[in-house]
Amino acid sequence: MPRLQAERLTRIGARLLEAAGASPEEAEAVAVGCIGANLAGHDSHGIIAIPTYIDRIKAGHIVPGAPWTIVQQSPSTTVIDGNWGFGFHVNAKAMQLTIEKARTSNVAGCTVFRQSHVGRLAAYPLMAAREGMIGLATADSGRSPKMVAPFGGREARLGTNPIAIAVPSDLPGPFCLDMATSAVAAGKVMLAAARDEQIPTGWIVGKDGKETRDPHQLRKGGALLPLGGTEGYKGSGLAAMVEVLCGLLTGLGFGVEPSGRHNDGCFMAVFNVEAFRPLALFKREVAEFARYLKETPAAEGSPGVLYPGEIEYLREKERLKVGIDVEDATWDRLRALAGEYGLAAALGLH
Ligand SMILES: NC(=O)c1ccc[n+]([C@@H]2O[C@H](COP(=O)([O-])OP(=O)(O)OC[C@H]3O[C@@H](n4cnc5c(N)ncnc54)[C@H](O)[C@@H]3O)[C@@H](O)[C@H]2O)c1
Repeated sequence: MPRLQAERLTRIGARLLEAAGASPEEAEAVAVGCIGANLAGHDSHGIIAIPTYIDRIKAGHIVPGAPWTIVQQSPSTTVIDGNWGFGFHVNAKAMQLTIEKARTSNVAGCTVFRQSHVGRLAAYPLMAAREGMIGLATADSGRSPKMVAPFGGREARLGTNPIAIAVPSDLPGPFCLDMATSAVAAGKVMLAAARDEQIPTGWIVGKDGKETRDPHQLRKGGALLPLGGTEGYKGSGLAAMVEVLCGLLTGLGFGVEPSGRHNDGCFMAVFNVEAFRPLALFKREVAEFARYLKETPAAEGSPGVLYPGEIEYLREKERLKVGIDVEDATWDRLRALAGEYGLAAALGLH
């Protein structure tokens, strides 16, 4: 498994995307977003996704250079049509506009539809947190094929429907929850399949409705389980609410249209902290709260308590130093693409 520095991996991703038709701005947004996920330890949303995005460009499911259109707005709300552009690019612009609106309205929200995969959802609320605001984002996959069985069912009818909330604080790392409402993100099962590794029980059921540790079963008619194990009805309920915010409120609808393009519907909201509490005081108190949580005596066998977002911060510090491992199957796909676009020598991918 080769190990590369984040900068080199970002350059490889961006150059391949550009060769496939993305503008330099789009290619940069996607590559930085993917390698940001690798740095945070979410390899399922990292460089492994770039060959898939290139396949989607070739299939016409992602449209490089797509216009970004506001179809309805008010001083505090916006409805955005991504016209099948790159989710990383479309959604970041949507969040930036929502932050601007929250600067004057204190609370602002937006919905985004007809865009491709948005990747690691935390990226967008973190933009708000950097501006002293609380950011919230939820995402679903429109009417493209589903991965998650509703609690008690054995057929996939929900997306992995993630929720991310980021809060400004004085901590060195972001105070940020970013989680799929399924037991895990589907990409983690795909990653295990690419690495030919078994997965823990409780992640998926096979087509027969029985739990399995074989990641390949997901693509063979299996389904991810909702978050929560025996209390999976809570994960199922969260996923259903995300689907309402991102599928119904955006107008994308529910259910599956088998020929459908991957379509990350998003609902995002921004709350200006200053409208509720003095920002400096709030940031200090959030840091104190995180330290209070961390000082909880550890449970038996546990290394101790982490605040939301801390593990990603620690992994990022480590990976910026030591580099990022790229599984052989992904490396081979990157090399094949570099060969196809005549970039093997320029990118050192022989
Ligand atoms: N765009 C999409 O369609 C989509 C869909 C699903 C998931 N995703 C992304 O996949 C990524 C992975 O999601 P996931 O749910 O599999 O991640 P996960 O199971 O690793 O959970 C991540 C969350 O749990 C926290 N966490 C992890 N370990 C912890 C510990 N020991 N103590 C305290 N907190 C801890 C993290 O800080 C983070 O907030 C996320 O970035 C998510 O946005 C994207």
